[in-house]
Amino acid sequence: VESLKGKDLLTLFDYSTEEVKELLELAIDLKFLTKEEKCPPLLAGKTLGMIFEKHSTRTRISFEVGMQQLGGHGMFMHSRDLQIGRGESIPDTAKVLSGYLDGIMIRANSHEMVEELAEHASIPVINGLTDLFHPCQALADLLTLQEVKGGLAGKKLAYIGDGNNVAHSLAIAAAHMGMHIHIASPREYEPVEWISEKISKLAITNGGSYAVTSNPVEAVKSADCIYTDVWTSMGQEQEAEARLAAFEQFQVNDHLVAHAKSDYVFLHCLPAHREEEVTASVIDGPNSYVFQQAENRLHAQKAVLASLL
Ligand code: CP
Ligand code: NVA
Repeated sequence: VESLKGKDLLTLFDYSTEEVKELLELAIDLKFLTKEEKCPPLLAGKTLGMIFEKHSTRTRISFEVGMQQLGGHGMFMHSRDLQIGRGESIPDTAKVLSGYLDGIMIRANSHEMVEELAEHASIPVINGLTDLFHPCQALADLLTLQEVKGGLAGKKLAYIGDGNNVAHSLAIAAAHMGMHIHIASPREYEPVEWISEKISKLAITNGGSYAVTSNPVEAVKSADCIYTDVWTSMGQEQEAEARLAAFEQFQVNDHLVAHAKSDYVFLHCLPAHREEEVTASVIDGPNSYVFQQAENRLHAQKAVLASLL
């Protein structure tokens, strides 16, 4: 995607709807070519630095393998091993890394920190999850829905549970595609207000809509897709008990999914907690595409890497 060369990927708010659609088309092409063992070496000789402040299975491995499939190299770094772990400043780190690398992927606690890194780096910075957003996940989510459902415009997406990073990015991506987005969360765990306002405007511009409710049944009614994520995200472990109680009525189970269309698609970014946010009957059932979705992280991110780097 030509217009994305040299850009960061911090949130999909920063991309045009056309750019998101073009990224998805490129991801589909790269997935096909990879399956044919013909993935082009578009990033030969390039290195992506990958900084993690938190755990990861999918993000780390899909970025590393993605760089390799494109002919380049992904380099894993845990932040505690870097000098940032001992207090070296973000601007200094950004300037130094810009001299070695062709791009930085970062999973951080704070979105503001990633913004600061991007501001001072002269190379693209890709958000691999912050407290507020998870854009690479959302691209893989759209790719999966596109594959299973065909077109996305006008389809109903129900997100049940915590109005967190994954919910924000999923809804932004779906708003670009003109979907009807329904988020059901307990009142105190709704998506962040300013983010909701921007999503709503974006959805309406594209012929879709955005609604937040505390009634999961209403959200799921006639839905084409049901999505959930963990109730306690990384870094919130001390709130786990309170959250377990608050989300009790928000479990995705057989009773709830019965209100969706019979061919609904179940998605979850993973890792999942069976019998908490989702029952095994749903996530391991015939409507679940979670492993196709996890694989699609690889292909969606290759489209991002090939475009930005
Ligand atoms: N979905 C996701 O980002 O998974 P990891 O935490 O394993 O990277
Ligand atoms: N909301 C989860 C997503 C993990 C991929 C978290 O932030 O831990």
